[in-house]
Amino acid sequence: MQDRYGHRISYLRVSITDRCNERCSYCMPQELQEWLPRQEILTYEETLRVIRIAAVLGVSKVRITGGEPLTRRGIIDFVRRIPHIAGITSIGLSTNGTLLARTVAEGVDLGGPRLHRGEPGSPPPAMTMAEALRDAGVQSVNISLDTLDAAVYSQITGRDFHAQVLSGIDAAIAAGFAQVKLNAVLMRGRNEYQLLPLIEFAAARNLLLRFIELMPVSSTEVLSEKNFMSVTEAKRLVESAYGSLIPETEFRTNGPATYYQIPGRAQRIGFIGAMTNMHFCENCNKLRLTCDGKLRPCLGSYLEFDIMEPLRAGASDEQLKQFFLNVVERKPQEHDFRNNYQPNRKMVAIGG
Ligand SMILES: C[S@@+](CC[C@H](N)C(=O)[O-])C[C@H]1O[C@@H](n2cnc3c(N)ncnc32)[C@H](O)[C@@H]1O
Ligand code: SF4
Repeated sequence: MQDRYGHRISYLRVSITDRCNERCSYCMPQELQEWLPRQEILTYEETLRVIRIAAVLGVSKVRITGGEPLTRRGIIDFVRRIPHIAGITSIGLSTNGTLLARTVAEGVDLGGPRLHRGEPGSPPPAMTMAEALRDAGVQSVNISLDTLDAAVYSQITGRDFHAQVLSGIDAAIAAGFAQVKLNAVLMRGRNEYQLLPLIEFAAARNLLLRFIELMPVSSTEVLSEKNFMSVTEAKRLVESAYGSLIPETEFRTNGPATYYQIPGRAQRIGFIGAMTNMHFCENCNKLRLTCDGKLRPCLGSYLEFDIMEPLRAGASDEQLKQFFLNVVERKPQEHDFRNNYQPNRKMVAIGG
């Protein structure tokens, strides 16, 4: 699939829930969140059908997100079915990490048939959520961690889950995913003094750390001069400690980050500058599926198209393919974040 501006679409971000066990100030509205009723959420079966259609049209990478995807029951069985979709070669998951270390008992929380690894008659072995996800086919996990300071973490997320996230990161490393990335949203006054500790934390665990500019996806106030820190400023701060970063123009993951090597180290770090990088949208390869069945051609645009309606009305695969192609046709050249964009849906409900 290719749009009018030459963006080749190969990547679908799939949100499976609008619910979350945290309340990050930049993602959730402060007022009480009303969750969507269950019947307004795509069933796993419906979501898999959308992924299948996308795969036929050239999508090879999917990333499961939310809300917090690990709060939705049955996620392991859902994920386990994705590698069987012809054409899908890469499966990622974005999570706040709080539930990755939780123990899940085979046959209880996981459901569905799996290989029984123990002796016949022995109790089913317990595994962590991270191991279960790895076992189900997830290759790469992105974990959000904005600070190593537990008190600041609570201020940002509204919850005291810092220790759980650190255990979740350990569980992800132990599970042996092909890649574990850490994502830190940059916030002046909250975590600029945490950039170096986060870099050292990532280095000690051999994790790929990315710094992300705050975007107006919850409310426009989060972007005030007081809160916003550009990736350029973050890079300057990092360079004042480590020396000039070495651009790694050849290195790419699926996303829009630009990567640099820290001089004298094998460590690389990434910067995602949606607000200040004028070339940010040039290589965009993404579509988003919201948990309530809207296809969004761009996070920073009001455009969204309801695929749940034709799905539930019995549309054929051919009709759904055409639906996808029409959405791609409407993909904008670039996001609208710099044009006084007023989010009408919150990040937690779109899927990050
Ligand atoms: C919406 S979350 C969903 C997955 C999961 N709950 C998590 O926190 O990673 C996906 C990513 O979006 C980021 N995010 C949320 N609101 C943002 C904002 N206003 N600006 C930039 N990134 C944001 C989060 O930090 C997280 O890395
Ligand atoms: S960023 Fe992730 S963890 Fe934080 S409120 Fe949004 S969905 Fe929840």
